[in-house]
Amino acid sequence: MLLGRRLPEAFPKEVLDHYRKPRNYGEMKDADVTVRESNRLCGDYVEIYLKFNGNRISAISFKGQGCMISQASASMLTELVKGKEAEEVLKLTKYDVLRMLGLELGPVRTKCATLPLVALKKGIESYLSRR
Ligand code: FES
Repeated sequence: MLLGRRLPEAFPKEVLDHYRKPRNYGEMKDADVTVRESNRLCGDYVEIYLKFNGNRISAISFKGQGCMISQASASMLTELVKGKEAEEVLKLTKYDVLRMLGLELGPVRTKCATLPLVALKKGIESYLSRR
């Protein structure tokens, strides 16, 4: 019985679409910052590549391996923050991520959803600390 488990069909269409056709996927050789974040519970990871123009994110891409939520979240997040100011992106919270995904999740799955945001914030902070 799948009680309590979400079938793929129950995910919002946009989440499924981003999982199946991830946007901004792939390594960026000339990135200003590369950051990798893993989920200790499962070993899945997301790697984020960032390029900046001043404090603005001029390019972003990601690679990763993990569940649908973590990978779709990474894809959607890269679309959301492209062209945004670093300080603006640092203000994003887990609630913004859950709103972006259109999902209500428990603590374990929220960790999946926010994995890319944690990586992204670390990358931005690393970049800002070097300026
Ligand atoms: Fe590993 Fe979701 S199960 S990140």
